[in-house]
Amino acid sequence: MLNFDMHIPTRIHFGRGKIEELGSEMRNWGRKVLLVYGGGSIKRSGLYDQLIQIFQDNGITHVELAGVQPNPRISSVRQGVDLCRQHEIELVLAVGGGSSIDCAKAIAAGACYNGDAWDFFIRQARITHALPVGTVLTLAATGSEMNPYAVISNDETKQKLGTGSSALFPRFSILDPEYSFSVPPEQTAAGTADIMSHVFEQYFSPTEGSYVQDRLAEAMLRTCIHYGPIALEQPNNYEARANLMWTGSLALNGLLGSGKLTDWATHDIEHQISALYDVTHGLGLAILTPHWMNYVLDEKTAPRLAEYARNVWAISESDDIKAARAGIARTAEFFKSLRMASSLKEIGLEEKSLETIARQVTNGETLGAFKKLDCKDVLNILLAAYEG
Ligand code: NZQ
Ligand code: ZN
Repeated sequence: MLNFDMHIPTRIHFGRGKIEELGSEMRNWGRKVLLVYGGGSIKRSGLYDQLIQIFQDNGITHVELAGVQPNPRISSVRQGVDLCRQHEIELVLAVGGGSSIDCAKAIAAGACYNGDAWDFFIRQARITHALPVGTVLTLAATGSEMNPYAVISNDETKQKLGTGSSALFPRFSILDPEYSFSVPPEQTAAGTADIMSHVFEQYFSPTEGSYVQDRLAEAMLRTCIHYGPIALEQPNNYEARANLMWTGSLALNGLLGSGKLTDWATHDIEHQISALYDVTHGLGLAILTPHWMNYVLDEKTAPRLAEYARNVWAISESDDIKAARAGIARTAEFFKSLRMASSLKEIGLEEKSLETIARQVTNGETLGAFKKLDCKDVLNILLAAYEG
């Protein structure tokens, strides 16, 4: 295990009715709030009306940035930054999934910076300050509610890039699993795949001796495998939604990746696909993951992939390569059982764009740590995932 420092400053309020904490949490940070949300799910669910009542009851004035798209755009961030400046906003409150939260984080940083917020994503500027961010989570997937990252798309440059800073940790997050009852099946499946992918990116590592992180990771994968299908069939099953929601937060809050080298090649590739084709993040990951696993399988990586197969899928094969292959097959079957597409072709990618994706994502360097991948490797994975 490697040395590490870890500090998670986000206060979590988890469970039914925990929205009751929102008023006092907001008052801790300010009375002028920018409310950031997506395309309307919070209005349909009634959560929006609840928020307005809480604002009134707590003497909070608010302005809104509505319509944040999945794969949130830098144009929304710029709009939000303008609103913060015009209205002297003190707290940015994101209500929704990872897209609204990431947009809110980028706004919060942009409001404390003299240049354009896109600078943070192209490494032209570092985030040192941000307005406080709070979140009310409605979709279990990204872990953004408890981490310091934001991922933003730029339609003009066709890029989707991430940034991170300890200034971006939400100050508080309200996690009421009941708010995720209304998540539609395709987003429930994609969210489950995203959580699993976050675990894979940290579990499949060249670092040895991280026994505790690895057993925690396997428990999280088994939780997703157990509860993902239940949430899909019974959207109002509290136990399933609660376990998925908490796993989503734990999977990307530093717990699994601290003390290890982590991979992230599959995420890098998916982000480049999303930049060009605006696909649902978790769906892109579900398609790529089994192909990435197949491609990186060799004598050196087989023991870890076999360990995954044995500990997560209870495969009792003693040969590592055979066990690994069986585990990979089970992974692909699982994603299919969540009714997700299994090829890039099916979701509308054009074969001719694969080379561009591979070139842009590697940009002359290698991806990943479990096994380093160059442009040709990435193209091979994309070609395999294209056919499915
Ligand atoms: O926009 P609304 O109307 O709210 O609808 C959303 C959206 O259409 C809907 N939804 C959310 N909660 C709902 C609901 N519909 C009904 N009932 C509810 N309770 O779901 C759709 C997807 O929402 P979105 O926020 O885009 O999903 P997700 O949470 O999966 O976020 C994806 C974004 O996060 C980024 C992804 O790349 C993508 O841009 N990621 C962020 C990370 C981070 N900050 O740490 C890490 C991840 O790896 C990821 O890259
Ligand atoms: Zn992800």
